[in-house]
Amino acid sequence: MNLLNLKNKTVIITGGASGIGKAAAILLASQGANIVIADLDQEGGSQLEHQLQSSGTKAIFHKTDVSNSHQVNELVEITLSTFDTIDILVNCAGVSGLSAYNDLIEEEWDWTLDTNLKGTHLLCNTVSKVMIEREIKGRIVNISSINDQIPVAGITAYATSKAAISGLSRSLALELAPYGINVNTIRPGAINTPMMKEILELPSLAKELLKQIPRGRIGRPEDVAKVILFLISDLAEWVTGAEIPVAGGMHLVGETSYLYYFEKEMQHEEKLPDIPFTRPWKNYNILDFINGHDEE
Ligand SMILES: NC(=O)c1ccc[n+]([C@@H]2O[C@H](COP(=O)([O-])OP(=O)(O)OC[C@H]3O[C@@H](n4cnc5c(N)ncnc54)[C@H](O)[C@@H]3O)[C@@H](O)[C@H]2O)c1
Repeated sequence: MNLLNLKNKTVIITGGASGIGKAAAILLASQGANIVIADLDQEGGSQLEHQLQSSGTKAIFHKTDVSNSHQVNELVEITLSTFDTIDILVNCAGVSGLSAYNDLIEEEWDWTLDTNLKGTHLLCNTVSKVMIEREIKGRIVNISSINDQIPVAGITAYATSKAAISGLSRSLALELAPYGINVNTIRPGAINTPMMKEILELPSLAKELLKQIPRGRIGRPEDVAKVILFLISDLAEWVTGAEIPVAGGMHLVGETSYLYYFEKEMQHEEKLPDIPFTRPWKNYNILDFINGHDEE
């Protein structure tokens, strides 16, 4: 009996060019799935496409902005014309800034909510319609965060988007259950990916974060990828509407507030890491970062 049953299943992974999405793409490919990588990152996506194809996986990369409904429709059309089905959707694309709430500008709020929440919604909406029309007993996994419930100063827009993703997933799990489609949510804790690079490079903050993880290490992208594999496999046939912390116990403890550490470092006039977030005290303009992505 094949408990995973992933051979020749077609999986769309948003944010698949980096971090958790990339680890998931590699793990699911190793189990025989066809992989569609949807990401803004042309270089990372193409590299992974090549890597997966070289190891015998049927894989394509399609440059996609998940917050753009036209691009999401195009992604779904290309997936269907290439693989003739979509069995599984994994929503990993995500962004976060770092700003005190009163410094949060409208563009940062929109960018965060559009990417994380609207992006997850557009993919769930478009793909679940295909699954229902074609009577596919599909699987959807949305990546939220332990910050959907645990507040951290400096990431209000991010935490709001993650709370909404968890809420969206619960409602969707209920609506799609009669069609045999499972919708589950993973709530990662601190995971060592490019998104967390600058946070983990600040020694005082990294040390504090480590103290808050009972299992005693920072998470790895593969830790999350393995739970994605479980949730989309036949092992989790009867699991829908679940919200699973993958955090080494961090959700039991809470999480320190990144902002305070950056502010403390600033007071000591120590060199701040080159962090692509809003840093009003350094006259950093998050628009440069957001628009930089648009120009790619
Ligand atoms: N790393 C952590 O500690 C952690 C903790 C909790 C939750 N998460 C969540 O896990 C998911 C994956 O994050 P990660 O840590 O692997 O980060 P990452 O930065 O390594 O990967 C995120 C990917 O999303 C892509 N992306 C960003 N905006 C996009 C858009 N508009 N359209 C398409 N792709 C876009 C990026 O290009 C990147 O490849 C995110 O939703 C994140 O919020 C991460």
